[in-house]
Amino acid sequence: MKITLTKSEINTLLDAAQAARENSYSPYSKFAVGAAVLTADGQLFSGTNVENSSYGLTVCAERNALFAAVGAGHRRVKALALITQKVKGQKFNSPCGACRQVMSEFLTPDTPVYIAVLDGKKRLVYCKKFSELMPFPFDKFTEK
Ligand code: THU
Repeated sequence: MKITLTKSEINTLLDAAQAARENSYSPYSKFAVGAAVLTADGQLFSGTNVENSSYGLTVCAERNALFAAVGAGHRRVKALALITQKVKGQKFNSPCGACRQVMSEFLTPDTPVYIAVLDGKKRLVYCKKFSELMPFPFDKFTEK
């Protein structure tokens, strides 16, 4: 089922992701990421990447945003957005594999994932269906 957001919903979601990115704790990679989740009932949650001197303990922005929504009692996600800086030679940075697996718990194959890139003063926005990012999630226990 196609899920459509209005332009204003998309911009609100991206603004939340961009604001969360300002709080990124990324002294090691210096790569700030922001993410935001729009729940099925219209609430917004955001998160950013939080690094650790024990590097493997880092938690990505997408998981922090999703866990904030789930921790507040939400289970259904209408859309997710993430935003990064522009990396030379790359069109955009898509979510890591661990975050995709976590997303597969709460997103449907048709859930839109907006991927934004800050390029100077411009915010470039791409959109992928979750199934394009994660065609074969591990979902042994999840009832769909
Ligand atoms: N990062 C995210 O927040 N989301 C991703 O999907 C990939 C990577 C963070 C983790 C780390 O703090 C920094 O970006 C560089 O890998």
